[in-house]
Amino acid sequence: MNTPAVQGTEARTARITGEDGLVSLRQEWLHPAIVDPEMDSMRLLSETAMRFPEALSFSSGAPYDGNHDLAALSFHLERYVKHLREKGLPEERITRTLFQYGPVNGFIQDEVALMLKRDEDIDAPPGSIMITHGYQEAALVALRGLFSSPDEVLLTVSPAYVGIRGAARMLDIPVRGILESGPDGLDPETVRESARALRAEGKRAVALYLVPDFSNPSGTVIPLEARRRLLQVAAEEELILLEDNPYGLFARDGETLPTLKSLDTTRNVIYLGSFAKSAFPGARLGYLVADQPVTDAEGTTRLLAQELSKAKAMYSVGSSSLSQAVIGGILVENDYTLRPATRELAAVYLERLDTVLDALAGHFPAERHEEHGVSWNEPRGGFFLTLRVPFTADLAKMERSARDYGVSWAPMSMFHIEGGGYREIRLGFSNLAPEAIREGIARLARFIADTPRD
Ligand SMILES: Cc1ncc(COP(=O)(O)O)c(C=O)c1O
Repeated sequence: MNTPAVQGTEARTARITGEDGLVSLRQEWLHPAIVDPEMDSMRLLSETAMRFPEALSFSSGAPYDGNHDLAALSFHLERYVKHLREKGLPEERITRTLFQYGPVNGFIQDEVALMLKRDEDIDAPPGSIMITHGYQEAALVALRGLFSSPDEVLLTVSPAYVGIRGAARMLDIPVRGILESGPDGLDPETVRESARALRAEGKRAVALYLVPDFSNPSGTVIPLEARRRLLQVAAEEELILLEDNPYGLFARDGETLPTLKSLDTTRNVIYLGSFAKSAFPGARLGYLVADQPVTDAEGTTRLLAQELSKAKAMYSVGSSSLSQAVIGGILVENDYTLRPATRELAAVYLERLDTVLDALAGHFPAERHEEHGVSWNEPRGGFFLTLRVPFTADLAKMERSARDYGVSWAPMSMFHIEGGGYREIRLGFSNLAPEAIREGIARLARFIADTPRD
C-alpha cells in the first residue's frame, strides 16, 4: 500500500494523486463515522465470532434458520401476482409493477395498512406508510427528515440497538442516551428530565428512539401505564417517539401490549417496522408510518411519509419490487395478519428463551449468585437477555471465550450510548436449538468460573 505521507492542505491534493500517481487515501479524510472504531464494533464482533465456527454463538440476533423455506419464496411471489390479477390489473401493469421503477414509497402500502390494523390495531392510511429497505432505511429516512440543525439532539434508550446510533452518526445527528431503569425499560419521567436538561443547555430534543417490546439488547418491555405516560411526556415536551417494533409478535399468549402507535392520539409517534423477524431479513424490507401533516410555505399540506419520500428517493430510489411482491404475497396468503402465522415461530423462540433461563438457573443456583458473581434478567419474550458477570466483558474476553471455550456472546458495553455495561454480556438465543443452548450455557459457565474477577 502506498499511503502518501503528507499532512494539512497538501493532503487535499494527495487525495487524488499519491506519490506514485495512483489514487491513495487516508482514513481520516473520510467521514468521521467511518473513522470511528465504535461504528465498526458489530462487524468486529461478527468477524471474531466467525473466526471460531465451532463455537456456539449467542452473539447475534439472527432469526431461526428452520423458518426459511426456498419453495415459499416463489410461492409467495406467485401469490402476489395472482392477487394483482384478482384485483383486475391488466397483465402489462403487473409486469410493469414487478420489472419497472416503481413509486418511491412502494406499492404494498394497502396490504401493510391492513396488517397494521389487524395485528396492532394501528389505523394508518396507506398514504402515511413508506415501504423501506428494512428498518435501517426507515430510521435513516425519518432521522434525515426530522433533524435540520446541529442543536437538535436524538434521545435514545440506552443500551440500544446499534442501528440507531449508527444511523444518527452517519447523518451527523448528536445522540444522548437515557439509561433504562430496570426490567420496565425507559422511565417516562427520566425522558422528561432529559428533554428539559437539553433545553437548559440551549439544545432541543427532537425525537426519542425506543423499542417498547423486548428491546434489543436488554429484552425489556415497557408496561402499559408507562406507555401512556411516555405518550403524555412526548406531547408535553414536543418529542417525536420513534417506535421500533421488530419483536412485538413474539410475546407469550395473552401478554401482548398495545404499541405506542396504537395508543397515540396526538400523532407523536413515528412507527418503524421490519419484516426481518416476522418474515425474513434477506428481503431487506421494512416500513415507516408517519401520519403527521406537514404544511409548506404555500399552505399545502401533505403527510410526513409523503414529504420523506424525497429523502428515500435519494437513498434508494425505491424498495425492491421483488421483495415487496414476496412480502405482499405473504400478507395476502395470511389474510393480512402475521400474528397467527407467527405463533409457531413464537413458540420456537419462547422455548429457546425458557431453555436459556433454565440452563442458567441450573449452573448458577439463586442461593449461589453472590458467590458466582452472576445474575441475569428474565425477559418474557424476544431474542435477548442480559447476563451480569464478575469481570470486564470486552471483545478480547469474548475472543478467548470463543477460542478456548467454544462459546461466543456480545459485550453489552457495545450497546451503551453513554458508557456502561462493562460487566454485562448479551445472550442472543434465537438461532440456537435447545440442545445447543444447554451445551453453550455449560461452556459459558466454565468460562465464567475460569475467568479472574477484575
Ligand atoms: C431493535 C431492532 N430493530 C430493527 C431490527 C431489524 O432491522 P432491519 O429491518 O434493518 O433488518 C433489528 C434486528 O436485529 C433490531 O434488533
